[in-house]
Amino acid sequence: MKWTTPAGKYNFWHTELLEQKHLMIAGAAGSGKSVLLNGIIYNALFSFPCDVPGGKQFILIDPTRVELCIYKKLPHTLRYASEPVEMFQALQYAMALTEERYKAMQRKRLRLYDGSDVYVIIDEFADLMTTQARRVKPLIQRLAQIGRAARVHIILCTQCPIARVIPTEIKVNFDSIVGLHTANAQQSRNIIGVKGCELLPQYGEAYYIKPGAALCHSRNIPLFTDEQIAAQVKWWTDQAKPFQFLRRMFKKTV
Ligand SMILES: Nc1ncnc2c1ncn2[C@@H]1O[C@H](COP(=O)(O)OP(=O)(O)O)[C@@H](O)[C@H]1O
Ligand SMILES: [Mg+2]
Repeated sequence: MKWTTPAGKYNFWHTELLEQKHLMIAGAAGSGKSVLLNGIIYNALFSFPCDVPGGKQFILIDPTRVELCIYKKLPHTLRYASEPVEMFQALQYAMALTEERYKAMQRKRLRLYDGSDVYVIIDEFADLMTTQARRVKPLIQRLAQIGRAARVHIILCTQCPIARVIPTEIKVNFDSIVGLHTANAQQSRNIIGVKGCELLPQYGEAYYIKPGAALCHSRNIPLFTDEQIAAQVKWWTDQAKPFQFLRRMFKKTV
């Protein structure tokens, strides 16, 4: 199947990626992982930032400290973490949220949570795993296993998903995979199971595995400019200002 970029701001493929259970984006350095991730977040910003059906919220984990910090002040962002301790706490928060949602589901007798989608977004997953694999691995594994029914999704970016970086117990839960350009056929096999990614251009095209469908080839991955993203972020933070003011007032009076 082939996707082309619609002229508008709203991108079809990104919306589809947002609907997946958990998503892995893999490719060589400079292959456009962060560009795709920013596009996905940009498209999520067309939704409300609250816990209502159709709402979208983020827990951002940013080991490089620069890629996702622009989204820190968004009303959609529940947690932003860039320091090692914070990253662990953010994952603990995601786990607690999932458990809370399961309790609510039990009360309401639901199988699927009836609120917002929460995305745990991790840029440069390998960095997180090299610094604190022991603490982080069980949390991510559990989230990947039980998150879906609670509408808690993981989106992670990594250079090469070898077993040392993404243990098989975690990888099996990622049935949606985007493979960008890789240096060689072996890396392509690690990502999408077959060779092919090494023949893709440096950036802008990808192979996409989605559950229950054949391997797709996606072309023309759009680049959302920093200005576009900043304008969208500013719109939302302006909307949220009165609420933040009220929250501050409330805290003062209590
Ligand atoms: N889809 C795209 N369209 C246009 N330029 C792109 C695209 N993807 C990547 N690039 C270019 O490649 C650079 C590196 O992309 P980036 O997402 O930072 O790579 P990675 O995170 O995989 O290391 C970007 O700064 C941009 O200039
Ligand atoms: Mg990057």
